[in-house]
Amino acid sequence: MRNNAIFRIIVLSVMLPVFWSCTPQSEEDRFIDDLLSRMTLEEKIGQLNQLDPSWDAEMKEQLIREGKVGSVFNIVGAKQVNRLQRIAVEQTRLGIPLVAARDVIHGFRTIYPIPLGQAASWNPGLVEQAARLTAEEAAAEGIRWTFSPMVDVARDPRWGRIAEGYGEDTYLASSFAAAATRGYQPTIAACVKHFAGYSASEGGRDYNTTWIPETQLRDVYLPPFKAAIDAGAMSLMCSFNDLNGLPSSANHHLNVDILRHEWQSDALLVSDWGSGSDLVPHGLCADKKEAALRCINARMEMDMQGNIYTDYLAELVREKKVSEKQIDDCVRSILRMKYRLGLFDHPYVSEDTPEPYSEQALATATQLAEQSAILLKNNGILPLQGNNLRLLICGPMADQRKEQLGTWVFDGEPARSVTPYDAFRRATDSRFAYIRMLPGLSYSRDKNTSRFKELEQAAQQADVILFFCGEEAILSGEARCRADLNLPGAQAQMMDRLAATGKPVVMVVMAGRPLTIGRQVEQADAVLYTFHGGTMAGPAIYNLLTGKTVPSGKTPVTFPKMVGQVPLYYNRHNTGRPSYDPPMLIDSIPIGCPQFSIGQSSYWLETPTEPLFPFGYGLSYTTFEYGKTVVTPTDGQKNNYLVSCTVTNTGEWDAYEVVQLYTRQLSGDLVRPIRELKGFERVFIPAGETRTVRFPLAPEQLAYWHERKNDCQSTVYLATDTALFQVWIAPDSRCQALADTLCIR
Ligand code: BGC
Repeated sequence: MRNNAIFRIIVLSVMLPVFWSCTPQSEEDRFIDDLLSRMTLEEKIGQLNQLDPSWDAEMKEQLIREGKVGSVFNIVGAKQVNRLQRIAVEQTRLGIPLVAARDVIHGFRTIYPIPLGQAASWNPGLVEQAARLTAEEAAAEGIRWTFSPMVDVARDPRWGRIAEGYGEDTYLASSFAAAATRGYQPTIAACVKHFAGYSASEGGRDYNTTWIPETQLRDVYLPPFKAAIDAGAMSLMCSFNDLNGLPSSANHHLNVDILRHEWQSDALLVSDWGSGSDLVPHGLCADKKEAALRCINARMEMDMQGNIYTDYLAELVREKKVSEKQIDDCVRSILRMKYRLGLFDHPYVSEDTPEPYSEQALATATQLAEQSAILLKNNGILPLQGNNLRLLICGPMADQRKEQLGTWVFDGEPARSVTPYDAFRRATDSRFAYIRMLPGLSYSRDKNTSRFKELEQAAQQADVILFFCGEEAILSGEARCRADLNLPGAQAQMMDRLAATGKPVVMVVMAGRPLTIGRQVEQADAVLYTFHGGTMAGPAIYNLLTGKTVPSGKTPVTFPKMVGQVPLYYNRHNTGRPSYDPPMLIDSIPIGCPQFSIGQSSYWLETPTEPLFPFGYGLSYTTFEYGKTVVTPTDGQKNNYLVSCTVTNTGEWDAYEVVQLYTRQLSGDLVRPIRELKGFERVFIPAGETRTVRFPLAPEQLAYWHERKNDCQSTVYLATDTALFQVWIAPDSRCQALADTLCIR
């Protein structure tokens, strides 16, 4: 059943040292080896220390002067960074420069949409450009290392950090992982995180345990890391979770077997914030010294904030529990990153800092916010057309400079945000007779309904209502998990009241995750889901609602109908008893019904398995018609194919369409998902025109990880099964009507 010719995992651990010893030394290696040969053990350990930002200023300077710091963290501004850099370069014995790190997650000063929103653009090229502009802004203020991109594939919207990643699909996340890495580097070093499996936390609760079989880890969670590494990512970050019982900072299999041997990566591996010392509360180590030993043995190279390396490594070397070679290997990684950043030659940053928020950055932020917005429903009200419309803008998110920026924003200034209300009010738009603003609720969790009466009266007088709802920034991101995915506060009640007026309501959702908004979607005439759109969210939303720009975003994650469906993702297995439609729901079961008389299939009594919106879904102001998918062999012997179909813009607007390629394996060694994304393209199609979209499809793209068990020994390997596949090109993951087939022999 297996295609023997392809994809065996080659174990390189034995061969690599031989290879290395034969390779002539590069300039970089010579430089690093020379420096390393002159360093004392204390200086080496110093390089592995990322300074705890909570030390006071004097203490920080002293530690740097003593050569006990390799990287500073959360120091911003050219002058501030240069001051510390001068101490490292001019007042320490070897003058090794520091590297200044910061969480620059979706923009530095100019804030772009949260990464989950960026993923809705399905436009890696634009994300790369945003990362490049971000890197320029950050580097101008001394930052040379960002803890981004986060590439954890997330299938659970309860998990607050779903906001920080690129959604639920491995292929899509891998495309963005590579794009963001290319964008940041070489201006600043990327740090791909969190290695690995962090997003599969039980119950969607942050930092929680994850149980992931090795084959699933490799099929679903690791490829985006590999994509970033292949794009040249200079560093990675360990994750907080224990993976199958072993926290990542102590996980030799992840950090050495996979990262160093299999992937041959020389990227620096940094802990997460104190994730090394966390081995004690995890219950893996009795004390911090043991934690330091476990971490260094698992090659966690730099210690962020935890102080376990500074406190215990020298002692462990003296006790001969750790060899100096182990330390050298780690130090090489940090020196290499500094070398590649050019810090040895140019340690300082110009103090003549250019103005942030350049025209190009703001234009890119607007464009990305436009492409990150998904039109989920439109009964024809959008784009807003007509003359002298009386417009009511309401809702707790309509005019919130800080909240629209989203999670993980330290340097973006809310004062620079342009809100949706700003954008509508500033536009001189003859469409509107007047624009009235009445928030109704002050913030997303507000339960005070005392202003609803006045709101209803204003709604009665309006021709169109724009309702801006969602979540404040603080409700998503790290440690911000939710057990309830409904609109918080009295927002649902507010929508009830607006809908009861009978006036058209356009709902704009600004949130950090998919919310369970089924009822509101039914009530609204149109729904635009923008996530947290960043500095330029307002103009982007204005452009979309008024038709200056045609919506093109598609969901990067499945939207559940109710929280009990979670985790719900598009590439699930079918089960032997797939849900049939319509299933017998709880209220329709006859009283006293015998146990098996209503059938057995896989669903919940309250809802079928269908989501509210599937992965890959999004509407436009125009309509597209897809032709039949055609699979043509290009090299029959090697099982290479070209998959194509025509897409016609059958509406009246020139527009972009995100065209998606899916496959399904119909039999094989193991059960495979009911659909898997294998390619996508954003195609511009003028009204009335047709484009042919083509995707190459090679057997490597159909490979997946298998496990062989022999005498209790298990081996995993990548292989493509000999099997029949369905292949189709579609506007979203649910649409499968026009599939063709191909056979891998
Ligand atoms: C987060 C990381 C972040 C680090 C530094 C941790 O709590 O998990 O993603 O980069 O803090 O701020």
